[in-house]
Amino acid sequence: MAAEGLLSVRSASKSFRGLRAVSGVSFDVGQGHIVALIGPNGAGKTTCFNMIAGAFEPDAGEIHFAGQRIDGMRPDQVCLSGIGRTFQLVKPFAGLSVLDNVIVGALRRNRQVGVARRKAQAILERLGLAEKRDQPASALTLPDRKRLEVARALATEPRLLLLDEAMAGLRPTEIDQMVAVFRRLNEEHGLTIVLIEHVMRPVMALSREIHVLHHGELIASGSPDEVVRHPAVLECYLGAEAV
Ligand SMILES: Nc1ncnc2c1ncn2[C@@H]1O[C@H](COP(=O)(O)OP(=O)(O)O)[C@@H](O)[C@H]1O
Ligand SMILES: [Mg+2]
Repeated sequence: MAAEGLLSVRSASKSFRGLRAVSGVSFDVGQGHIVALIGPNGAGKTTCFNMIAGAFEPDAGEIHFAGQRIDGMRPDQVCLSGIGRTFQLVKPFAGLSVLDNVIVGALRRNRQVGVARRKAQAILERLGLAEKRDQPASALTLPDRKRLEVARALATEPRLLLLDEAMAGLRPTEIDQMVAVFRRLNEEHGLTIVLIEHVMRPVMALSREIHVLHHGELIASGSPDEVVRHPAVLECYLGAEAV
């Protein structure tokens, strides 16, 4: 790709007890780009994120971020290098308040609690959660838990944000609010984003480029317009008879 690659996944593979979850997948993400990873359930999308974020070491291949090789690093090292992630199954500290959940993320960058608290507060305002800051995270509704998950990831001050179905289960108006938040972070702060989504609305609204995974393999890459017309994509989403 022409743009300077911030993230480069090169022939990455990962198997679980003989099952090839991800098989020789390569893609690049340019600085400041928003890229989507789509594909049916079990296609290997979350496994790609787990390899990028240091949860799993690839069996083969390499992952580079900001000029550094990161595969094999621990999750906390990857986070400090500038990659933040949200989890498909949101996991806040249920007993902590909304604000404290975000402060925990901010403390990874700022040792001073006062600084971390101010950063956390600003992020909650951006996500529309400021008024709920003193509630326990366990009291939040699903849309607010999704927002909190994003707030916690942003608090680590990433250059690259990995969103794993951050908008799943949200209503169209709630999706549009999240899309607006991500677009602003991208335009005003140059945040690079890779999103995994089943819902096509945010994918089409945000992505410059889409990569399609199927049975662990990358079957198509291109602009949103190209990808939705790609025969292999139509086949895997709609069945061969639809082509
Ligand atoms: N930790 C794991 N242990 C065993 N199998 C796993 C693990 N994580 C994922 N898999 C398997 O790898 C395949 C890809 O899973 P995943 O990456 O979660 O897909 P997606 O996110 O696209 O739905 C699935 O068959 C899944 O069951
Ligand atoms: Mg997944």
